[in-house]
Parts: sequence; structure tokens; C-alpha cells
Amino acid sequence: MSFVPPKKIRRIAINTGGGDAPGLNAVIRAVTLCALNRGWEVLGIRKGFGSLLGGEPCIRMDAKTVRGIAHLGGTILGTTSRGDPFQTKVHLPGMRRQRLAADVIVDELKNLHVDGLIAVGGDGSLSIAYRLMLMGIPVIGVPKTIDNDLNATERTFGFDTAVATATDCCDKLHSTAQSHDRVMVVEVMGRYAGWIALHTGLSTSADVILMPEIPFSLEKIAKYLKNRRREGKPYAIVVVSEGAHESGKDFFFKSDKNEKGSEPRLGGCAEYVAERIQALTGMETRSLVLGHIQRGGSPTTYDRLLALRYGAAAVRMAEQGLWGNIVSFRPPLMSHAPIESAIKERKLVPIDSDTVRTARELGICLGD
Ligand code: F6P
Repeated sequence: MSFVPPKKIRRIAINTGGGDAPGLNAVIRAVTLCALNRGWEVLGIRKGFGSLLGGEPCIRMDAKTVRGIAHLGGTILGTTSRGDPFQTKVHLPGMRRQRLAADVIVDELKNLHVDGLIAVGGDGSLSIAYRLMLMGIPVIGVPKTIDNDLNATERTFGFDTAVATATDCCDKLHSTAQSHDRVMVVEVMGRYAGWIALHTGLSTSADVILMPEIPFSLEKIAKYLKNRRREGKPYAIVVVSEGAHESGKDFFFKSDKNEKGSEPRLGGCAEYVAERIQALTGMETRSLVLGHIQRGGSPTTYDRLLALRYGAAAVRMAEQGLWGNIVSFRPPLMSHAPIESAIKERKLVPIDSDTVRTARELGICLGD
């Protein structure tokens, strides 16, 4: 069954799912204020779909709830990246038997007289939203991820902040690399796409950038670093995406990649690369993983503005009956695209893009 678009909107709900990203609160503020200004009610679902599955009740959003939050990191609604409702059963008080969580969510949204859901999330959460739509819930998706790997939109909010944070951290490593004549290998997030690594590496003037789209050769990296040393630069900054991998080899995983119910966690590439660089060049090498610091803190001005625009556009789309779509940023416009197009495949860095070309022309080693 597919959804029946509401004739008149009285009440919408909003939720945030998956990993947090700077700018979520700005989206929540924009959705709430733009909806209230149209005379609609707004329910904030906590912790993904938690409020509909026996968790803390929904928040009745008003202007006060969203006052002064646009500059705050995280999400006032809370989020979760665990428990796919299509793979989870629940047995809540008053239920005679266990039920699929997704069925309970659909019933609860109907019991709450929600005319449509604004689902803010990455590919996992948007896939769930899409399946809820097929079960009868009118949905509009707002694409979110620091990784910038969602198709059908030019830029996700949170990415700019993650790159700014990672660049700031890498800037700080230049002085220690130079003082000690060391190679510093820094692992950044981004999953299977190299957007964060590429933009951070270029911005911080890294010497080597490794990303999933360009499998690397350790021999080539070692040769490059030895040349640098011969030229009187016995130090280097190497920015490594968590999804980078050697040519012909698998990704580096921290968790079992076949584990059911959660996304496999990437990690470990920087440590491996550092160890191999030291062995191949004899240069003193250290590695570090920036981790979740890239998702934290206040969104940059760019992300705040982008997130506010995403939120306002989502409400506009609901008003126009454009359910079943995500808000799609097509600079300078806010447009829309079917939810399926956002979840179908990942947006990787095109290896012939101007940014990659710029890195090569600046003499940065991309490991190939
Ligand atoms: O998708 C955002 C992201 O931060 C990725 O860059 C990273 O691989 C993953 O989430 C980490 O997930 P978790 O918060 O579950 O460790």
C-alpha cells in the first residue's frame, strides 16, 4: 500500500535518525517555525522513533522549544543509529503479542493524527522513512550526514563543520610534524566516500591524501615521502579517509562487516599506513584518529544557513504535496528528488573532479 496525501495539513511530526550532524537543531527550528507560521501543529519524536515505541513521549513543539538552538550541535530530539524497525520486534505494555516495530510506528503516527512526517536522516534513516511511506505514511526526507555521500543533493549539512573541525586539528599537527621530523597520519571520517579527507587534506595543505575512490600503493607513498626528505622536508601530514584501502584489498573494519542489524564500523587504516610508512621509509611516524569530534560542536555559519534552508524547504514541499521526496540542494536552489534516488547509491568523489585535479596540480600525493 502507498500513502494517501493529506487534503489539509493540521499536524506534522519530525524526527532525527542515525548519527548526529551539526545543523540538526537548525533544521528542527526551521521546520517548527515554518509549520507553526502556517497554522500547523508539530510533534517532535524523540530518539529516532523512540516516542512511538514506548520511549519518552513526543514533544509538542512550539516557538519556545526551538528558541536559541540553531547554533547548537547535536539534536534536541535525540537520535539513534541502532534498531532498524523493520528488523526489530517490540512487546509494549497493553500489547497481546510481539509486533514488528515498523507496524507499531505506522499505527502510532495514525493514532496521533499525524498528516505527514519530516524525516531527517542519512541513507539508513531515509531507507526506513521510504519503507514507512510504502506502508501509508506521507514522508518528506531531509538529507543529513557529515559524510556528504548522499545522492540527489549537492551538499548535506554537517559536512562543512566536519571539514572545518578536521582542518583545524590537522593544522595543529603541522608544527609537531616539523619540530620532530615526523610523518603524522590522520584518519578522518566519511565512510566509503572521500569527501571529508579530500576537502580537509587540501585545506590543511596535507602532503598525502588517501581516499576510498583512489586505492593506494604503499610503495608509491613511500617513494613520494623519500623524495620529500631528499628535498629537505623530512616530515609530512598524511590525511587518510577511514574508507581508504590498498589497491586490490578490502576496507579496514573495526567491527564484523557481516554483523546483522548495524552498519559495519570502518577504522584502522591510519594505524596500518603509519606502520608501513615507518617500515618502508625509516621515517618516524605517528597515527591518530579524529573520530567523533568531527560530528560535534556548533555548526559553521554555512551549515546553519544550509540547515535552516533545508528545514524551510521541507515544510514548503509538504504544503505543495511533494510527499515521497527529499529536499535536494541544487545551488542556488532548494529543489526536490524522489527519496529512492537518495538511497539508491552513494555519492562518491568523482576522480576527475576539479578538486581532485587541484590536489594533483598542487603536487599532493593521492597514493596512486
Ligand atoms: O555517517 C557518519 C559517521 O560519522 C561516519 O563518518 C562514521 O563512519 C560513522 O558515522 C560512525 O558511526 P558511529 O557513531 O556509530 O560510531
